[in-house]
Amino acid sequence: MELTVVWYLRMSLVYFIAGAIIGFALLIWPSEAGYYISAHVHLNLLGFMSMMIYGVGYHILPKFSGRHIYSPLIMKVQFWLSNAGLIGMAGSWPFVSRGSEGTAETILILSASMSLLAVILFAFNILKTVKAVQM
Ligand code: HEM
Ligand code: HEM
Repeated sequence: MELTVVWYLRMSLVYFIAGAIIGFALLIWPSEAGYYISAHVHLNLLGFMSMMIYGVGYHILPKFSGRHIYSPLIMKVQFWLSNAGLIGMAGSWPFVSRGSEGTAETILILSASMSLLAVILFAFNILKTVKAVQM
C-alpha cells in the first residue's frame, strides 16, 4: 500500500477517536453541545468517513480500472490540504460558535476553503483515473 494512502487511513482513525471522544463529552456536558457539535460532526464525517474514503478510494479505484492514479502529486497535496483544513475547522469552530470574531473566523474560512479544495482535487483526480473496462 502506498505510504500516502496509509496516512489517509491512519488520520481517518485518529479523527474517529477524536470525534467519538467529543461526542461522548457532549453527552456528559449537553449544555456545551451547541459549541462543539460542528467540530464533532465534521471530525466524524469529513475526518473519519471522508478521509477513509479518500484512502480506500485511492488504493482501490485505480486497480478496478486497471490504471495508475492520474496524479500522485495531487493525492499528496490533497492529503496536506484536507488535514490542515479539517484541523483548522475543528479547532476554530468552537471559538466562532462562542461568538469570537477576527482571527478565529479567518482561520475557519481559510481552513474550510482548504477542505473544499481538497474535495475538488479528490473528485478531479478520481474522475481522471477511472474508466470503464470491457467485460
Ligand atoms: C462514541 C461515538 C459518538 C457519540 C458518543 C456521539 C454523541 C453525540 C451527541 C451527544 C450529539 C449531540 C446531540 C444533540 O445534542 O443534538 C451528537 C451529534 C451528532 N453526531 Fe455524534 N456521537 C458519536 C459518533 C458519531 C459518528 C461516528 C457520527 C458520524 C459518522 C456522528 C454524527 C453526528 C451528527 C451528524 C450529529 C449532529 C446531529 C444533529 O444535527 O442534531 N456521531 N453526537
Ligand atoms: C468543505 C467541507 C465542508 C464545509 C466547509 C462544511 C461546512 C458546514 C457548515 C458551515 C455547517 C453549518 C454549521 C452550523 O450549524 O453552524 C455544516 C453543517 C453540517 N455539515 Fe458540513 N461542511 C463540509 C463538509 C461536510 C461533509 C463532507 C459532510 C458529510 C459527509 C458534512 C456534514 C454536515 C452535517 C451533518 C451538518 C449539520 C450539523 C449539525 O446538525 O449541526 N459536512 N457544514
